[in-house]
Amino acid sequence: MALLAEKVALITGAGRGIGAAAARLFSQHGARVVLCDLDAAPVEQLAAELKAAGGQALAFTGDVTSAEFASQVIAATLEHFGGLDVLVNNAGYTWDGVLHTMDDAQWQAMLDVHLSAPFRLIRAAAPYLRDTAKAEIKAHGAAKARKIINVSSVSGVYGNAGQVNYSAAKSGVIGLTKTLAKEWGRFNVQTNAVCYGFIETRLTAAKEQGETIQRGDQAIKLGVPENLMAGITMFHPMGRAGTPEEAAGPMVFLASSLANYVNGEILEVTGGMGI
Ligand SMILES: NC(=O)c1ccc[n+]([C@@H]2O[C@H](COP(=O)([O-])OP(=O)(O)OC[C@H]3O[C@@H](n4cnc5c(N)ncnc54)[C@H](O)[C@@H]3O)[C@@H](O)[C@H]2O)c1
Repeated sequence: MALLAEKVALITGAGRGIGAAAARLFSQHGARVVLCDLDAAPVEQLAAELKAAGGQALAFTGDVTSAEFASQVIAATLEHFGGLDVLVNNAGYTWDGVLHTMDDAQWQAMLDVHLSAPFRLIRAAAPYLRDTAKAEIKAHGAAKARKIINVSSVSGVYGNAGQVNYSAAKSGVIGLTKTLAKEWGRFNVQTNAVCYGFIETRLTAAKEQGETIQRGDQAIKLGVPENLMAGITMFHPMGRAGTPEEAAGPMVFLASSLANYVNGEILEVTGGMGI
């Protein structure tokens, strides 16, 4: 059953990890997807893969923290697909450190990518989510359901030592989600957040061999210490981290009509990891 037939879904951070898995699953469910990422090659490759499988996809390269990103990606989406139904704020990375040694740049970088970027993108999408719905209500008495899915983290709900910047930003996105659910619910826009625990991506890979992300002149090392991950899986109820595909499933649910009365929820997708 195609749960997202003909929906236009914009997914940030779709180049790899959870965003790429979500894009594949959205496409399998009939969505037309806009794949945004900082890195051009992975989104171009993914768009080609989805098109070869019979889907519709547009690759868009850009930095969600840049001032022009939101208006440019929304314009590209409308030009290519003629509308917008689902917005997934997923792009991000971690830049861990303890509070007493953290400088302003390290603090601000997390707020920029995980909190301000979703805020700006939702604001830029308002004319096509909120205002279109308002016009539909005026004309037909009801608006089509539209969705916003924000990616948060258990760090944002419970805190996590060494991630004060990331936790604060991911906590902020929960406030953003709950408030928007109250502001746009009447326009039939459902806004929800998904809080992941440990999902196997480069953000949870062993830091010792981990990848880096280049931000300005900083090469930021991604991943978590190997022994930490071993400890987490030892005490995890399911004994393992989740896969990106397992992380993507609940996003399809939230994007679909099955979740038309689910609004302002913070869905923890952790495999039962109690913190
Ligand atoms: N992996 C986990 O265990 C986990 C847990 C909780 C929350 N999350 C969140 O899930 C989301 C996806 O993370 P992931 O684990 O798939 O990581 P990932 O590194 O595999 O994928 C993230 C993607 O976002 C892109 N990106 C990063 N900064 C960007 C920017 N400024 N502009 C545009 N694109 C940018 C990256 O290039 C990358 O392709 C993030 O918001 C992350 O904080 C992940």
